[in-house]
Amino acid sequence: MDKLLINGGKKLSGRVKISGAKNACLPILAACLLTKGEVCLKDVPLLSDVHFMKKTLERLGVQVYSSDDGLKIKAEVIHGEGPPFDLVSRMRASFLTAGALLARRGRVRISLPGGCSIGRRPIDLHLKGFRALGAKIEETCGYICIQSKELKGERIYLDFPSVGATENLMMAASRAKGITVIENAAEEPEVVDLANFLNALGAKVSGAGTKIIRVEGVKHLGGAVHTIIPDRVEAGTFMVAAAVTGSRIILDNVILDHLKAVAAKLKEAGACIKEHSDGGILVNGENCSRPIDIKTLPYPGFPTDMQAQFMVMLTLAEGNSVITENIFENRFMHVSELNRMGANIRVEGASAFIQGVQRLQGFPVRSTDLRAGASLVLAGLVARGRTEVLEVNHIDRGYCRIDEKLRKLGADIHRVKMEEDIEAETETAVPR
Ligand code: EPZ
Repeated sequence: MDKLLINGGKKLSGRVKISGAKNACLPILAACLLTKGEVCLKDVPLLSDVHFMKKTLERLGVQVYSSDDGLKIKAEVIHGEGPPFDLVSRMRASFLTAGALLARRGRVRISLPGGCSIGRRPIDLHLKGFRALGAKIEETCGYICIQSKELKGERIYLDFPSVGATENLMMAASRAKGITVIENAAEEPEVVDLANFLNALGAKVSGAGTKIIRVEGVKHLGGAVHTIIPDRVEAGTFMVAAAVTGSRIILDNVILDHLKAVAAKLKEAGACIKEHSDGGILVNGENCSRPIDIKTLPYPGFPTDMQAQFMVMLTLAEGNSVITENIFENRFMHVSELNRMGANIRVEGASAFIQGVQRLQGFPVRSTDLRAGASLVLAGLVARGRTEVLEVNHIDRGYCRIDEKLRKLGADIHRVKMEEDIEAETETAVPR
């Protein structure tokens, strides 16, 4: 597994292009299972999670290939009963294929997606919705088998506005008989992008982006060309990079409307964010040192996926801040690593109490999950001396070439292969 070496203290400048959104691309790739038509996706981000989802589709017999126009997908035939265990166990989002396979084939057998480092991440709301649509669900030896002769539209109330459950149920309902209404639905932009893609295929989804989504099932879906929306979390991460380094940078390919809560909290901390004359977003983080309080909430509230990044900025604020994590039960694993770098953070239950310090000190630290890893990179940009961020594979799941993008902005950051990787590679390279 690679590691990143960062020498802190460099200012950033210039422009960075934000990639397509991981959390829009994954459900949209799953939705390709709903149709035999040819799909072409543009702005597909080069991420390991996207790679695993493409592998999942291929293992199901789907044709997936890159072309000059974009990523082409054709699910003319589907083999097997569901995504293989080895891929579901490596990437929870494979469970997003359940709704599409159930709608397409009337049956899916899929392993229970494990929890992950940030929490238990149950799927009870997904299963509640499938049952409401008429599916029978059996659970045996870590697998669940979901089947239905014919899905029938129904009114479904989500106890929590789960993003994944909303997406899985929209996909299942798109080909059900009759009308489905999902109440207390997730309102995230990625849900809207999936709905727009489904409608491009010929589905009839309305209300996405609000708490009430209505799906009128259709018998047939065709092909489509679709451009993935920009990644609001990658954009927010680079905005915080400008804040922690006291820099001015321009972000290209950003929908600022998707970042209202993030921009509001950055401005509260002292940043200046505005549209640049040529369409980019100018972020001025030169005076971003005010302490602020944050509570993570479902969209349009402050996103949990930006919590770790903001914590880095607040470790250096001129005063005390409080971050309350209301979405996942274990999303403070970056705290111990930041404290080893000299931060002063105390966790009590769902809240982290952050006392601003003068500086962070470079140190070898370990990524535990995607956004925690990104926060350690941000800490390395501003820490005194050298920071080594280990297990960069977590970061590569959700950030496309983060080291290259930061280096182009002026950061002193380089990726190195870990010794064992090199040994492993040389062993396999030597003919037996
Ligand atoms: C999506 O995960 C994102 N992943 C996550 O991004 C993001 O943090 C999360 O939404 C919240 O915004 C993708 O889109 C691939 P949820 P998802 O279902 O769908 C509870 C990243 O860093 N819940 O909205 O799994 C659950 O326990 C990743 O890019 C149930 O109780 O999130 C959690 O507390 C991390 N029962 C809360 O809802 C269920 O059936 C939010 O989960 C489902 C969820």
